[in-house]
Amino acid sequence: MQELQQILEQALAQFSVIDDEVELERVKARYLGKEGSLTGLLKGLGKLSAEERPAAGARINEVKQQIEDALQTRRDSIQQRALNAKLEAESLDVTLPGRNASTGGLHPVTRTLERIETLFNSIGFAVAEGPEIETDFYNFTALNIPEDHPARAMHDTFYIDDKHVLRTHTSPIQIRYMEAHMEKHRQQETMPDIRIIAPGRVYRVDSDATHSPMFHQVEGLWIGEKVSFADLKGVVQSFLQRFFESDDLQVRFRPSFFPFTEPSAEMDMSWKGGWLEIGGCGMVHPNVLKHVNIDSEKYIGFAFGLGVERLTMLRYGVNDLRLFFENDVQFLKQFS
Ligand code: DAH
Repeated sequence: MQELQQILEQALAQFSVIDDEVELERVKARYLGKEGSLTGLLKGLGKLSAEERPAAGARINEVKQQIEDALQTRRDSIQQRALNAKLEAESLDVTLPGRNASTGGLHPVTRTLERIETLFNSIGFAVAEGPEIETDFYNFTALNIPEDHPARAMHDTFYIDDKHVLRTHTSPIQIRYMEAHMEKHRQQETMPDIRIIAPGRVYRVDSDATHSPMFHQVEGLWIGEKVSFADLKGVVQSFLQRFFESDDLQVRFRPSFFPFTEPSAEMDMSWKGGWLEIGGCGMVHPNVLKHVNIDSEKYIGFAFGLGVERLTMLRYGVNDLRLFFENDVQFLKQFS
């Protein structure tokens, strides 16, 4: 039984230097596994004489028990060490100040949209909406933009297919709203007084510090029996004065061209001693009214379109439009 003593000593020596549970189980197999050396000795008992067998068997079992005990001790110590390391690594510093859940805030462009809506609501304008995927008809044709107009060229417009585009402006909402509401007035034989703003996202193939492929516009529309160019200027100017909280703010119209208005003007507002362009406007073109079955001999009105990012940049002093869409929390936090 010299061999047995050797096996035991070898096993204990090996176990004592193993630090890994998997490795420990692997080494265990060398002694106690099917092909293990101790198992081999047990199998060999059959060759011994009947007198020798009980003592030898008892001795082997005793060593087997010692090996198993040593294994368990080693296993426990490996586990304990792993636990200690984990506890140390994940230590909790209860003296650290708590971390507050951060509260969200409205996006600056959303704030501007809400402000615009509030101000126009207060002078009787309702808010209208329309689809962002628009038909060629509403985006262009009904707005008196002929087939060969540059606004239809591929470099400006995102086409979905032959007949659908991502709307390039909020003006198609004018058409949709007039269509829906004139029908009601015709049935009830009442006089239309259409006063809406139509805010929303618009899309163009364009991208630099002052252009983003997606941006926001607000359309304005007032149709009635006696709506004048002077009303247009008054509405836009008083809106801008209230928006920028400046009674001195002036609006200047420059003659311009839009297919859907006649006459048309570019709107500038006074800003830091100079003028800044903030949108387009004009008296709704008779052809546009014709498309929605409004008698242009009886009814007249104005329309305008404002850039929402532009207003936001001026109000908050932001100089790069792309900042609005990069979702950098450090930037956005300043507005909440
Ligand atoms: N739809 C024009 C654009 O996106 C802006 C505009 C100009 C709208 C004049 C109007 C208007 O309603 O009368 O460039």
